[in-house]
Amino acid sequence: MATVLIRNGRIVTASEDFHADILIEDGRVHTIGRDIAVGDDVEVHDAKGQLVFPGGVDVHTHLDWEFGVARTVDTFGTGTRAAAFGGTTTVVDFCNQNHGESPLKGLEDWHKRAASACVDVGAHMIMLDVNDQALADMETLMLREGVSSFKLFTAYPGVLMVDDGVLVKAMRVAGKHGGQVSVHAENGYLIQLLVQDALAAGNTSPKYHMLTRPPEAEAEATARVIRLAEYTGTPLYIVHLSAMGALQAVAEARERGVHLHAETCPHYLFLDTAEYERPGFEGAKYVMSPPLRTADHGEALWRGLKSGDLDVIATDHCPFTFKEEPYGRKMSKQAGTEAFNKIPNGAPGIEERMPLIFDGFRKRGLSLNRFVETTATNPAKLFGMFPRKGTISVGSDADIVIFDPDETWTIKAAENHSRMDYSLFEGFPVTGKVKKVFCRGNLIVDGDEWLGREGMGEYLSRGESGLI
Ligand code: URP
Ligand code: ZN
Ligand code: ZN
Repeated sequence: MATVLIRNGRIVTASEDFHADILIEDGRVHTIGRDIAVGDDVEVHDAKGQLVFPGGVDVHTHLDWEFGVARTVDTFGTGTRAAAFGGTTTVVDFCNQNHGESPLKGLEDWHKRAASACVDVGAHMIMLDVNDQALADMETLMLREGVSSFKLFTAYPGVLMVDDGVLVKAMRVAGKHGGQVSVHAENGYLIQLLVQDALAAGNTSPKYHMLTRPPEAEAEATARVIRLAEYTGTPLYIVHLSAMGALQAVAEARERGVHLHAETCPHYLFLDTAEYERPGFEGAKYVMSPPLRTADHGEALWRGLKSGDLDVIATDHCPFTFKEEPYGRKMSKQAGTEAFNKIPNGAPGIEERMPLIFDGFRKRGLSLNRFVETTATNPAKLFGMFPRKGTISVGSDADIVIFDPDETWTIKAAENHSRMDYSLFEGFPVTGKVKKVFCRGNLIVDGDEWLGREGMGEYLSRGESGLI
């Protein structure tokens, strides 16, 4: 493996901001210092005038994933290549236990699919049937398989939803071995009732997805699961938080000292319910759960990022194409033309996250350090990968992004690298562009050029979760 020198960059981590060179050997950061002298055999990249920050860590993706009757369209190969072009070099993806099966089988299947990854990948486990054997398997996952985080749902009845007793059982076991429970917190029963009402009234268009998943459903479920975590003492992570009532529940619980962290996603920060007013079936592109909220919720989330009540920005990349061709109806929003409740829930974002958040933070006066913290360092810490991932320090993996803070460009799905045929952020002007990306010292993105390869991503056997 080549020895690499990144020269003259402005290095930004969650806590530092300074000019220096970085020498990379055997895929790791070997030396950080001024004017490092090297021989002609060393690959040198000049980063003068550029920012140099740790590769992004996206801890919420659904690649090549069967979701009810639908399936996400990106493979690990295509999804992680897109991630890399967007400056993300670590992905933690959701694998799941199938009903009636062991979660260990779910992980085995996931490993086969994840073999094509272009960047390093870890797995969270979605638990569905939490019986005695599955609880024992959770211990195996934590102690032997490097899976230290479990996701449970209070939404999607009949597909993914579990009851409160199941949540408590999973929390108890996770808490014994340094595990963390992540929850998709929406009140599934309330939503089910509202969906039935809407359909009975003949309301089938995409905007009813939003109207049947009110913020109160999220606020209630978030407050409830927080109380369960408070009772068990197990670290809790709220995924894709979108509503101000939910954020308030998080902030109050933190005041009480609950071991709790929360994530939001770019779409809740930059978009609002107006997207559901698009003509025809276009609103289906924005059908994800929780749905987009009114702009006041977005403003509250920005405040949460400033105050520290929100710790992580992840994508929830769950891609279904808008058009049926070329990947078929099962992987497309068109599966739901008959009624909003049949539209596959999920949206893309794996490539846009880092530049979009960089630009948003700049406009909103949040610091560069906080940008790195919420997109790389905190997720790496919370999911047992720090300091190997999420920072630039001697000994850490040389996952590094060279980033031009001044280049202005426009997001276009046609120029993205995943299989998706739309972007939630189509036409957004963005200032700040990924120029070069290194994954364990390998240059994998050089401008528009792809130098990585499918299968070069390594599996991340993770340590204890829930630590910041
Ligand atoms: O709509 C979404 N978020 N789809 C992915 C599954 C989940 O709930 O995270
Ligand atoms: Zn979810
Ligand atoms: Zn998700």
